[in-house]
Amino acid sequence: MNNGDDIYFSQSYIAQIGGITTSTLSRYLSKSHENDDLNKDNKRKKFSFAEVRNILKHFVSNNVSINKKIQVFFNFKGGTGKTSLCHQVSINLALMGFKVLAIDCDPQAHLSYVLGFDETHDYKTLYDVLINKFPINDVINKSLYDGLDCIPSNLSLTRLELPLSQKLNRERTLAKVLEPLKNIYDFILIDTNPTISTVNQNATLAADILNIVCETQPFSLKGLEMLIQEIDKFSEDMECDINYSIIPNKYESKTATSQEALGTLRHEYKNHVMESLVRKCEDINISAKKKMPVFGFCTKRSMALEDIIDLSHEIIKRSSKKVRYES
Ligand SMILES: Nc1ncnc2c1ncn2[C@@H]1O[C@H](COP(=O)(O)OP(=O)(O)OP(=O)(O)O)[C@@H](O)[C@H]1O
Ligand SMILES: [Mg+2]
Repeated sequence: MNNGDDIYFSQSYIAQIGGITTSTLSRYLSKSHENDDLNKDNKRKKFSFAEVRNILKHFVSNNVSINKKIQVFFNFKGGTGKTSLCHQVSINLALMGFKVLAIDCDPQAHLSYVLGFDETHDYKTLYDVLINKFPINDVINKSLYDGLDCIPSNLSLTRLELPLSQKLNRERTLAKVLEPLKNIYDFILIDTNPTISTVNQNATLAADILNIVCETQPFSLKGLEMLIQEIDKFSEDMECDINYSIIPNKYESKTATSQEALGTLRHEYKNHVMESLVRKCEDINISAKKKMPVFGFCTKRSMALEDIIDLSHEIIKRSSKKVRYES
């Protein structure tokens, strides 16, 4: 099984992930290890996940105050990349020093799988929390990565819809149980399945930001238009604001349809569309197959690596009061 302990990082890789220069990083390492033996080995040394997390805390997580903690990856269209991006970003944020909880709300359990949970696991899931009234803290598990916890899913979530839809105040059940966790975690990332259901309405109302993952293709834009109408209507019915961002995914710079779709997205949805986009790249597929984040096996030049780093930094920026990276 691959896990955080099998991944080692060079200094230039750490600098790239943290959005800092290698000289800034090496200055910091020499200062912080002035009096120990590590200093003379730093140049050649490869750093573990836990060590990188400690280093990047100084440059990233310690410098921001996250106030939009619950991030839901959503689209009622299937296969747009919700799980892939939720997977990459949750591990990346943990690596940058944040305390992260990933919640799998999809009975297909793909997020649980890539985070190392066996498909046939009998861990408790959100079903036990929302229906059987288990305390949420009792269903949180350590993942394979330092700083990242997980509530995995399994097929039990297919039975969630009916009893949840019969509850009083049903749409706000998840928001209520997640509220106390905001004191523990910097980020709570939720992966959803491609439906409009009571479960996903719950995720939508719990979200501080709804990250709509949208492919840059004509049909995806049609679907997005309908989705935004649904969200507007739901927000009106529930008398609350729903803050959403759109993440363009699977962008292909060489195809006219993809370029055009991105142009339309930016024109129609303006600031809702993230500046960062994720290009179509085989490394994302390999990552799922290997059950390993892209930084676990990609070279520094990988498009997927670059895009996931940019996306993670923009999510931090959109979720925080201020960002002040050390230089
Ligand atoms: N940027 C990308 N480049 C290449 N392949 C991608 C990219 N993003 C996602 N994929 C691939 O697209 C497929 C669907 O991705 P994923 O499972 O993340 O979508 P999803 O929205 O979670 O799907 P579902 O709606 O079934 O939950 C996967 O094979 C994944 O590896
Ligand atoms: Mg998925």
